[in-house]
Amino acid sequence: MADFHSELKSIAQPSKDGQGCKVFIETYGCQMNVYDSQAIDGLLDKDGFDRARDVFDADVILLNTCSVRELAEHKITSRVGEIRQQRVDADAPPAIIGICGCMAERLGIELQKGKNRVDLVVGVDNYDKLPGMLTHLMGKGKNQKRRHTATGHRTDAHYVAPPSVYPVNNSHLVTIHKGCDYKCTYCIVPYTRGPQTEKSPEAIVQEINTLVDSGAEEVTLLGQNVTAYHWQQELDFAALLESVAEIDGLKRIRFLTGHPKDMHKHTMDVIGGLDKVCPWLHLPIQSGSNAVLRRMKRLYKQDEYLNMVDYAKKVIPGVTFSTDIIVGFPGETEEDFQATLEVLRLVKYDQIFSFKYSVRPGVPAAKLNDNVSLDEKKRRLAEVIKLQDEIWLAEAEEQVGKTLEGIVESAAKHPKDSWRVRTANNRKFVVSNSHQGNGLKIGDSVSAKITGIASTTFLTGD
Ligand code: SAH
Ligand code: SF4
Ligand code: F3S
Repeated sequence: MADFHSELKSIAQPSKDGQGCKVFIETYGCQMNVYDSQAIDGLLDKDGFDRARDVFDADVILLNTCSVRELAEHKITSRVGEIRQQRVDADAPPAIIGICGCMAERLGIELQKGKNRVDLVVGVDNYDKLPGMLTHLMGKGKNQKRRHTATGHRTDAHYVAPPSVYPVNNSHLVTIHKGCDYKCTYCIVPYTRGPQTEKSPEAIVQEINTLVDSGAEEVTLLGQNVTAYHWQQELDFAALLESVAEIDGLKRIRFLTGHPKDMHKHTMDVIGGLDKVCPWLHLPIQSGSNAVLRRMKRLYKQDEYLNMVDYAKKVIPGVTFSTDIIVGFPGETEEDFQATLEVLRLVKYDQIFSFKYSVRPGVPAAKLNDNVSLDEKKRRLAEVIKLQDEIWLAEAEEQVGKTLEGIVESAAKHPKDSWRVRTANNRKFVVSNSHQGNGLKIGDSVSAKITGIASTTFLTGD
């Protein structure tokens, strides 16, 4: 799943009967964490906690963290020290700092030791305990302790993010299952998120109905392997898409991330046949070399992946692709690496998320010799990015002069007074606020003629 770093916007809301305690959540990692932060926000809101504007305004700071690469974890450790120092510099009293998410699950009580130790560690299945733990830590309950940890996987914990924290008319994240039953040899996620456990189709449909009732028009179904969704051997991902597509008032359905092994012809037929399902497939290939794919335990070969892409192009009109790539996996030769570049040339992805292999403690690949040097990993990463830029630029230039349609998603950073628009097949363009004659707002449908390209975003003349 493509990962990114974001901050959950704080939404000023009065405290109900709460403790008058203000909480700020900073979110790292993938969209699963973004959703979880919304769920945490909802749980705390229900218990009367307030949302802080920023780390200075907060009594409690929660970092929702990612363990997928070593660097992601290092960033969090230094962020804890940075927040403490910034508060000292600003003459703010010490805050309670908590680690949630994948790092909490992986490192548990270890995070309460050392220089950058934190007060609270809450793993991915224990967010319902957060209000109680915070109440104790704030000294408002009995049995007050200085530090708390809650980790360990539970099958009963499926959190639902309340619509009140969503921006209306954006793509609303809806987690359909948690965890992962695959064991890709490089990956920490099965350890941090536990086994794949499904939300029931009824719960998913109900959650989306609630979103639609509060103004949502688009959802993104989320999971580490949404294509492997199955409910009691009765209903697979394709059938789930069909049920969700029946929801009145819902206009667009996206999903992230699909595992190539589970992207069956039948699933693609259903995607292609349902108007509401957007024609964009994020299908991480990781490597184009069969030898590397086998050592990664990805469960498909290069030709199977390419056949799947060909089939998708046939049955899903306007389909676009994005992917994740790891360079420098143990034993990756120059020839293996060239096979990855070849896949990029053949598929012509719109976007790739590429990473240098990072050893994760305790995963099967940690036993392999990490024999591709850091310099070589950097060189391969730079080469992958350069090739992808060339491929995308050639594809993008062909779009100039065409008219694209999409939905306004957010204000654009550049140029001033313009909006960022996303097409059904996940392409982005910017339009000025005066486009179509009057001021635009999030959720509006727009169409515009493409005049140029800046990185992955199309420019339009007006
Ligand atoms: N469930 C998703 C992946 C989640 S992790 C899937 O199966 O595709 C997101 C991405 O991080 C992965 O696709 C992979 O490209 C990258 N990644 C995971 N572990 C990594 C590691 N140890 N080193 C470098 N990149 C890694
Ligand atoms: Fe990690 Fe593989 Fe599961 Fe994706 S499918 S989360 S890469 S183990
Ligand atoms: Fe997501 Fe990072 Fe955890 S990618 S599942 S937050 S390890």
